[in-house]
This record gives sequence, structure tokens and C-alpha cells, in this order.
Amino acid sequence: MCGIVGYTGENQAAPILLDGLKRLEYRGYDSAGLAVRDGDALAEVVKATGKLYHLADKTDQGRSLPGNCGIGHTRWATHGDPSLINAHPHVSGNCSGSGSGKVESDVVGVHNGIIENYGELKEKLLRHGYLFYSDTDTEVVVKLVDYYYKKYKIGPVDAITRTMVRVRGSYALALMFKDHPGEIFAARKDSPLIIGTAENAAFLASDVPAILKYTRSVYYIGNLQVARLSPGSVKFYDLNGDEITLPLTEITWDAEAAEKGGYEHFMLKEIHEQPAAVRDTLGSLIKDGKIDLTAAGITDDILLSLSQIIITACGSAWHVGIAAQYVIEDMAKVPVRVELASEFRYRSLPMSKNILVIVISQSGETADSLAALRLAKEKGAETLAVVNVVGSTIAREADHVLYTLAGPEIAVATTKAYSAQLVALDALAVQMALVKGTVSAEQYSHLIEELIGIPDKITRVLEDKERLQWFSSKIANAHDIFFIGRGLDYAISLEGSLKMKEISYIHSEAYAAGELKHGTISLIEKNTLVIGVLTQSQMIEKTISNMAECKSRGAYLMGVTTNGNFAGEDSVNFTVYIPRTDEHFVSSLAVVPLQLLGYYTSVNRGLDVDKPRNLAKSVTVE
Ligand code: AGP
Repeated sequence: MCGIVGYTGENQAAPILLDGLKRLEYRGYDSAGLAVRDGDALAEVVKATGKLYHLADKTDQGRSLPGNCGIGHTRWATHGDPSLINAHPHVSGNCSGSGSGKVESDVVGVHNGIIENYGELKEKLLRHGYLFYSDTDTEVVVKLVDYYYKKYKIGPVDAITRTMVRVRGSYALALMFKDHPGEIFAARKDSPLIIGTAENAAFLASDVPAILKYTRSVYYIGNLQVARLSPGSVKFYDLNGDEITLPLTEITWDAEAAEKGGYEHFMLKEIHEQPAAVRDTLGSLIKDGKIDLTAAGITDDILLSLSQIIITACGSAWHVGIAAQYVIEDMAKVPVRVELASEFRYRSLPMSKNILVIVISQSGETADSLAALRLAKEKGAETLAVVNVVGSTIAREADHVLYTLAGPEIAVATTKAYSAQLVALDALAVQMALVKGTVSAEQYSHLIEELIGIPDKITRVLEDKERLQWFSSKIANAHDIFFIGRGLDYAISLEGSLKMKEISYIHSEAYAAGELKHGTISLIEKNTLVIGVLTQSQMIEKTISNMAECKSRGAYLMGVTTNGNFAGEDSVNFTVYIPRTDEHFVSSLAVVPLQLLGYYTSVNRGLDVDKPRNLAKSVTVE
């Protein structure tokens, strides 16, 4: 996610802003920028791509930027590639070149979040004579504030509240107005934002670590609220522009804990960010009750023309492909092959334009997946990258790119990016089914409703985490753990097994439940843990039988199944229930208990959950 900071007070702003941005680096970014005002003088903007030290070097560690009032930003690209002109801050006027220099404009701002209706707002502003210099949704929202500020000749707070009423999406905004020197205005909806206060100073930031060095007294600004910061004073307003009061909180965390949002590890934080990651990803694909993949370049005509889909990826991304295979084939009746990228890159598979090769990759830099993409392009296939990092190599080289909006994933073991990929492919399957005529308009609408309901249901699954924490303490010394399932339940078993082994170092295997009796069941002995994923109603009974076969050989059983009476409950030692949803999408819910089980088991074994041994977040070598 992007990081924003702001300061107004008696000291020079730029060094404080840089220090705050440094403490937000963990949020991931690809560029950064500052806007600082010296009294009534115009604000000066400085931007830099790459690491934050480039910006610090450009401003002599902030010393070359005079002024006691300013805002800063680290950008995690969602709209528009990582570049100087797309870096924040953005201004309400026009600007050439890199976008650095004195700001003649009336409004300058930074933003963390996603403006879903930025396209229609941009068209509105173009009609009113505004020109745009960047590809960002942020420039649109800064110009919209300026539009209302000028059109209604109202103050900054009213211009901002009018903008908030018009905008759809998420934002944490920090804005400075030329006519209001020394003041910073902030607004929030869904994206994190805190306001700090100290003697003769006021701060704002995306997260506590950025200002902890200067103050522990913070206000947690609420959704659809506005803040007005001046040295030593902060006022708050509701959406009507009426002044409100907020409680002041004293922070007791230390800086490192604060980076993890109070969670013990980034992995647990990211597991809990899954509802937002899924919501944001779906929000970018579903507009007005319909799935629209055109932003990814995937038109209905392309979907209609497809005779086959090949999905290629590594690790957890490959597991997404296995799940997507079941969903796409069942819904759209289009044959899907799923290939490990490390194998696919050496295959001599015939391809053609009516074959879509989908490369799934969180990092967008995995060497095997990149090689597979290049091979597919050489062979003339249409290629679609499903990636989480804007501007990554795989994103840039594919014919089309669908960005997941999970935000930066710090833990080596993927969770929120995996879940965002899962729903992105689900959405593609639903749209393809409509285009191919294999689902009716009514079924299409129902499926979309089910997709939209997933984030809240993930939240409900997360509420069961204490039971999983308890159960993980019983398996911390396990030697072998088997995950089994049929159909989509097998795909989820693959991911559950990888999570367990990569962070707890316990040997684990995932098996298609029907395959156990063809050899592997000989490994089952007393207390071997067998975890059955049981969400596909047509196949649950058969998998329960397989589990019973294991139990009769001494196995200890855990089940993950949907709410309601579970016929096998008596024979299973520990059962986790998840909310019901369309069975094509229930994988997004079933995977969460398995992520938590792996996480808590690793913690119980005292291991480095976020940085497991021998692993890298992105495997950029063969
Ligand atoms: C998953 O938890 C692992 N970290 C690993 O399997 C990962 O999914 C794989 O290396 C692919 O990475 P990518 O999605 O960045 O291409």
C-alpha cells in the first residue's frame, strides 16, 4: 500500500516527512515525493523513483527544502506504472516533465487507496477544461477537490466533503491549499490514516510508526471524516462539514510492533488483510453489477474466441491455477491445462491465438514464470499476466495484465495475494461463462453477488482463529501431515500443505483423496494427522470414507467443511466450519483455516514465520 505523511509546526518539515516515510517503507513502494511550503510561499514538490534514499539525496536529507508545512508519499502503484510523473504529490493545475518544482496550483495532494470511479470523474473534469499529466486516480481526485473549491467558492473542508460524496473507492487523502498556508487537510474512507498532535505541531500518517518518534498522542480519524491540521491544533468534521470531536489515544506500541499493525508477524497481518485484498481486487473488476475485464485488455470477444486456456505459475500461484481449472471448466466449459512454469518452459506444446496463456505471479518476477510467458509468446499464444506488482517484468511483457490489489506482501508465505488471485480468476470464469452462454443472466447476477459476499465471509472465518491456535498447539510435534480433498478441495489441500511445510518445516503432502489408496495410505500410522477439505457437496461423502480408512489405521482427523450438519463430524477429531457460499468460490473461505493452522504451528515451533529458512519472497533465479 502507499504511505502518506504530513507535518505542520515550528520545525523544518522535510526532514520529519522523510523520516516518517522511511518508517513506512515496509508498506512497499516504487517511488516517493514531498510537497513543502515555507510560509505563504508556493509549495515546492520533489519526486524520485526507486528507493527513498534517492528522494533524500535529492533534497540533501530534506535540508534543501525550507518550510514548516508539508506532505509526503511513498507510492505502491495501482493505476499507472511506477514513474516520476505518476509519483505523488499531485497538483490541481498542469505540470510538465517530472512534476517537481514550485507548485502554481491551488491544491496539492497525496493519496493512499483506490478511486474506483476515477474514469468517469476524469471525463467530467476534462469536459470542464482540466488537463491531465499522469495516469493516476490520485490526480483525478486532487483536481476534483479543486473543481468544487472553485465552482462553489467554498472552503477546503466543504470542497473535500463534496468530493467525498462524489467519489467511490478507498482513500486517505492529505491536501494543501495555496490560500491556506501552514494548514493541511485530510480525509479518510477505508484506507488507514491517523492524526498526531504535539505542542505547536500536528502530524498525519498512514500508520503509527511514521510519527511515533514525535508523538504518541493520536486520533484515529473515522470513515468519511475530514481533519484540518494547523500547528498545535487539529479540528475534525463530518461529511456535512459540521465540526465533531474525536477521542485522543495514547499509543503504547513500539515502532516494530506498529509496522505489523499490532500483529506479531506480517503473515498474520496479511492473513487478516485478505478481506480488504479480495474486496479491492473484486472492486476493480466488478462495476455496476457486471464483471468488466477490459481494463486488463480482456474483452468479451477475446473470451468468446478462446478454445483453450493454459495456466502456468509456480508454488501457491500454481495452486490458484489448479483451483481456477475446476471453476473455469465447470462454469464456462472451456478446457484448461495447468502447467508448472518450471516444466512448461521446456515443453513443446503447440499453441495458437485462440489459446490464452495465463501467467499468475504475485511478484511478477519469478524466473520460471517469466520464461514460461516468453515461450508462450514465441509460440503465438495470447498472454494474460495476473500479478500483484504494478510494472513488474511479467506485467510488462504479457499482452494483457490483470492486477490484483492485495497491496505489498511482506511475508514470504503468500496469503492475501493468493486469495486475490483466486477471486480474480473466479471473476474471469464467471464472465467467460456469460459470454459463452453457459450461465443465464440470472445465474450470472447470483454468482456476482456470491463473489461480492466473500470478503465478509472471510472475516467470519477469521473469528475462529483461537480454535485453530489451540489445535495447532496439539500438532506442533507432528512428523507427517496429509491434506486431502476432491476437486476444488484438492486444490485447497495443495495450498494448505504448502503453507504448513514452508513455514513450520513439518513434512506434509496434499493428495487427491481418491489417490490415497494407490500407495500413500501405507504411510499412515498412529497419530498421523490427516486433514480433509470437505466443501464440494457431491464429493464429501467419498472423502470422509477416505478419512475413515486413515482413521482405522491410527490417523488423527481434522475436517474443514461448510456450516450445517456434517455427517462425518462424529469420526473427525477436530472440525472447522466455514460459511456457505457458491461452491465454486468456497475455496476462498476454506484456505483461511489452513493458512492460520500453518501460521500458528510455525509460531508454536518458535520459527521465523515471516522469513522461513531457504526461501525467498520472489524466486528470480532458475
Ligand atoms: C508461497 O507461499 C511461496 N512463497 C511460493 O510458492 C510462491 O507462491 C512462488 O514462489 C511463486 O511466486 P510468485 O507468485 O511471486 O510468482
